[in-house]
Amino acid sequence: MAHYKELGLVSTKQLFADAVKGGYAIPAYNFNNLEQMQAILQACVETKSPVILQVSSGARKYANATLLRNMAKGAVEYVAELGVKIPIVLHLDHGDTFELCKDCIDNGFSSVMIDGSHHSYEKNIELTSKVVEYAHKYDVSVEGELGVLAGIEDDVVAAHSTYTKPEEVQDFVKKTGVDSLAISIGTSHGANKFTPAQCTRNEQGILIPPMLKFDILEEIEKRIPGFPIVLHGSSSVPLELVAEVNKFGGAMKDTIGIPEEWLRRAAKSAVCKINIDSDGRIAMTAAIRKVFVEQPGEFDPRKYLGPARDALKTLYKYKNINVLGSAERVK
Ligand code: G3H
Ligand code: 13P
Ligand code: ZN
Repeated sequence: MAHYKELGLVSTKQLFADAVKGGYAIPAYNFNNLEQMQAILQACVETKSPVILQVSSGARKYANATLLRNMAKGAVEYVAELGVKIPIVLHLDHGDTFELCKDCIDNGFSSVMIDGSHHSYEKNIELTSKVVEYAHKYDVSVEGELGVLAGIEDDVVAAHSTYTKPEEVQDFVKKTGVDSLAISIGTSHGANKFTPAQCTRNEQGILIPPMLKFDILEEIEKRIPGFPIVLHGSSSVPLELVAEVNKFGGAMKDTIGIPEEWLRRAAKSAVCKINIDSDGRIAMTAAIRKVFVEQPGEFDPRKYLGPARDALKTLYKYKNINVLGSAERVK
């Protein structure tokens, strides 16, 4: 058992309260390895932003739970060395069982998500409540989810049943005791969030996805005022990064993300955690491909992982400053 407080981590409690009040969102960046963690920490220290280091169950298997716990401990010492003691949360992304959430809580995580959104409403409440009961004994925050995020196979425009139902949120929050709620208002995971057929073209010929359901978000905010809301599937999938991947031999097609202005708008509301994974993957891939094409004789991993780390750091700094509004919030 390693409690997160022993590692110097914090839960989401105070960070979310400040973010809701301040009209910004805390970045939740997914990571699997050293370079990604370095980039996230350096970017957040340089922009004075609180940060959520986010680990999926796949990432945890990939990286190893013991190494991750020690990386998180190292992260706290590293930011102090860098000179700005930003608050760091270690969060389980899309936990799907009580056992996984418990294992993370017992191994230094300060926040867990229990994603019961694919279950019936009643089963979701039952599973989420069980995780909350255990987590709160240890002061660990819990994120629940209502509504299913649309994938590329679903018709986001027509499949209204996948959006969060505002009439359920108050009951869900009360019955489960969750600390934050992930909602579905039209974002989705991955780099291909919509089909081109679902989009319209602007004057520059750029594909614009269907507008997020801000009306649903507003209705949710009315029903649970000030309650922390989480937005998954929030990569913007920048055209220039995809172009860079493809320029250096990649084959990413029909990529469409969430426009930055929409995320900025969401961050100004009760949305206080924004999840970003895919954009980091694309930035890293573009940088590595560039080295491989331009310097084919290079075989020192530092020579391609280093530029990938720099590209990630640039991306995260940009997001903190221009999209999430989390920069300069650590005093
Ligand atoms: O929401 C899912 C995250 O992007 C994590 O993806 O399960 O491939 O690590 P992963
Ligand atoms: P993206 O695929 O849009 O980056 O979303 C990541 C996410 O929601 C992780 O939980
Ligand atoms: Zn997600």
